[in-house]
Amino acid sequence: MSRIFLPDQTNLALAANALRRGALVSFPTETVYGLGGDATNDRAVAAIYAAKDRPSFNPLIVHVPNLAVAIELGDFNEDAMKLAQKFWPGPLTLVVKRKPTCPLSLLVSAGMDSIALRVPAHPVALALLTASNLPLAGPSANASGRVSPTTAQHVEKEFGVHQLSMILNGGACRIGIESTVLSLFEQTPVLLRPGGVTRDAIVDIIGKDVEIADAITDQTTGLHSPGRLLSHYAPDRPVRINATNAMAGEALLAFGPHPPAAKIMLNLSETSNLEEAAANLFAMLRALDQPDVSCIAVMKIPQQGLGLAINDRLQRAASPR
Ligand code: TXA
Ligand code: MG
Repeated sequence: MSRIFLPDQTNLALAANALRRGALVSFPTETVYGLGGDATNDRAVAAIYAAKDRPSFNPLIVHVPNLAVAIELGDFNEDAMKLAQKFWPGPLTLVVKRKPTCPLSLLVSAGMDSIALRVPAHPVALALLTASNLPLAGPSANASGRVSPTTAQHVEKEFGVHQLSMILNGGACRIGIESTVLSLFEQTPVLLRPGGVTRDAIVDIIGKDVEIADAITDQTTGLHSPGRLLSHYAPDRPVRINATNAMAGEALLAFGPHPPAAKIMLNLSETSNLEEAAANLFAMLRALDQPDVSCIAVMKIPQQGLGLAINDRLQRAASPR
């Protein structure tokens, strides 16, 4: 029997009940599908780590319905307030200090004193947050290290029935690439993961510099972010980036109006539109990840705007496993 449900009132109530019992429910967001669980329930959060086979030092994003709920959980400084007011609901995750009274499971913080919060823009995600009246831990609904899901069908393939019994279907994700993760924990804001909201847009709002974390400094600063693990977002087949052609056996993930010839090819955007490319990225990586393909060759993507987030994911997908 399919585990994919229409997000009508009846099924939203079913999903909310499941979450209250500590079960997991996958829900759509504007970025990617999340694997949701009650963020105040240690057992539910532990079940998320187990289902994803996620290294336990990697903390989880918590979804909330609005800023009022967020400021009950974490300390929002002036920058955090400005950014939340500008970009929520939307693809920006803010890492802030936990309030002493914060009821969230310590597991979502993976032992740190911070929490990552986001108000998603997808109406089904917001409806589920309202129906359950719970903050929802929600990492991308894929096994750790693998390609993130942008449709309900992707999610169904990732998990067994004992791990996940319900997936709310919200169609294909509009943005298709994960949220930007910004830490406001230190004096200078640090971009932990490029995503749906660009660094330039953030600098514009807070009027100050934003540092970019990299995998090397992560190891010394302890700013752990699993999205920052070098090998991540990986299909089964190897990935070759900045390709100008497709070699024998390779499938081509093209970009732009003039791709080189290839037997198996999908185009992220024929009009070189970066929003369209981001929305297609994970679904096309999955579609080209076929047994008779030796490698997925990906054409160069411009390093600007959403291109930074796309290239970040592609570099990790192409890193040695
Ligand atoms: O778009 C998204 O953000 C999706 C959708 C479902 O909302 N969620 C998502 O969650 O990508 P996840 O758990 O796969 O990614 C969480 C990112 C990771 O890079 C993690 O390390 C970082 O946020 N993160 C979470 N809590 C953190 C914390 N307290 N400090 C630093 N980084 C944190
Ligand atoms: Mg993920």
